[in-house]
Amino acid sequence: MKNSLDHNTDTFEQLLDQTKNLILQKFEGIETAKAFSGYTPKEVRGWFDEPLPVEGMDVSALLERVQDQVLDPATMNMGPHMYAYVMAGGTQVSILAEMLANTVNQNVGKWHLAPVMSELERRVVQWGADLIGYGEAVGGVLVSGGSAANLTSLTVARNIFFEKEGIRKHGVFGMKPFTVYASDEVHGCVDKSMELLGLGTDHLRKIKTHTDCTIDLQALEQQIQEDMTNGYTPFCLIANAGTVNTGAIDPMVEMAAIAEKYQMWFHVDGAYGGLAAGTEMAKGLFKGIELADSVAVDFHKWLYQPFEAGCAIVKDWNILNRTYYKKASYLSTDMKDDGRFNFNEHHFVLSRSTKALKIWMSLKAYGSKRLMEMVEKDIRLTKYLATQVDQSADFELCNDPELGIVCFRYLGNKAEMAANEEIDRMNREIIPALEDDGRVFITGTTLHNRPVIRACLINHRKQQHHVDFLLKVIREVGREMI
Ligand SMILES: Cc1ncc(COP(=O)(O)O)c(C=O)c1O
Repeated sequence: MKNSLDHNTDTFEQLLDQTKNLILQKFEGIETAKAFSGYTPKEVRGWFDEPLPVEGMDVSALLERVQDQVLDPATMNMGPHMYAYVMAGGTQVSILAEMLANTVNQNVGKWHLAPVMSELERRVVQWGADLIGYGEAVGGVLVSGGSAANLTSLTVARNIFFEKEGIRKHGVFGMKPFTVYASDEVHGCVDKSMELLGLGTDHLRKIKTHTDCTIDLQALEQQIQEDMTNGYTPFCLIANAGTVNTGAIDPMVEMAAIAEKYQMWFHVDGAYGGLAAGTEMAKGLFKGIELADSVAVDFHKWLYQPFEAGCAIVKDWNILNRTYYKKASYLSTDMKDDGRFNFNEHHFVLSRSTKALKIWMSLKAYGSKRLMEMVEKDIRLTKYLATQVDQSADFELCNDPELGIVCFRYLGNKAEMAANEEIDRMNREIIPALEDDGRVFITGTTLHNRPVIRACLINHRKQQHHVDFLLKVIREVGREMI
């Protein structure tokens, strides 16, 4: 019996070749593959409904099975026909990086377990800050995504804001309730963060928005003052630098001033749109982001990284250390005092995978200029889609996109009934019908209390003819429903 799990070099090389061919085949089919495979949960579950494999199998045969039952039916998040949620497609250089990162299997919790990956993480955090114009000596951590970046930032906000009260030791017990403010378009991960931080969603004030989905500043100040009168401590104000529904950007300069006036922590959720601040085309929309105490961004959105790659950025490392540091004898750091930087002392997580290599390699290989040109292309395509929708009698445009999201309604031949319940029904039902069709993958949302189709264009592989194809497919599927 062999005493390790490794293959001999020849066999491993053959397996790598086979894997390489599987990757190449995915790219060969990228234009033509169905965006959604259409298998039912019962079918997919059925493929894997098998007992714990006690004996191993031939890996080459296993890879063939992976091709049939994992790669072929995968939702084509990588492809140009994906418009749902915020799916950025990934880069080829990141595929290489992920394989290599898994080969050396570094643990970015302690410096000496991952000297290079630790330093690369510090570097890409700074590059993220450079892209959005946030500062020259920031601190930050790579996390799973925007949700984790917001939770991380709000944890920092709570622990630093209430540091003098000893909140890390005492918890929130016995404190005057404190309140957080964001627009009613804020992402649901902020609600979840309120729950996880023990603050409770009752203390998240969702401020009404204007018709362009940006926060109503007057209503915001009114609510803050009312809360102060009623004995609450307003503690954190959150701006959206691109809402998930429409990409609306809150007025950050004004919000920073309000946060300062009431001495609150100012956080920006830039998970969806923040990195577009790195483009010439859109950077003017993000004025004030540099005033935030913390910012959440997502490299797996507008830096086209494969999942997962979120990032929480703050003004300096010390803030993270004061939030998260915990002494433990088994992690003793005083072996050598030569400037080692341990991520576990700056975040909740101890064992951490390498997320920085794919980001670092992508930025080195493509350069920020070219990556940001792709973001600008996405924004231009979004405006193109909006114009096509606006000029068509069978569609109704529902937002004026500044970033990469268009919301619209299919009207068919019933344009005169635009706000009608029949049209509502059609726009609700068209989403699962499009999923059944599978040629494009798009989802919906609710805007101003009406169901809408929501297209998010955030993929460097998308071109104008793909957008034309989207409208053609929606029309074909929609006609069947009238
Ligand atoms: C504005 C905003 N915040 C947070 C998130 C959550 O990010 P993730 O899905 O990476 O957890 C999203 C996701 O789309 C988002 O658009």
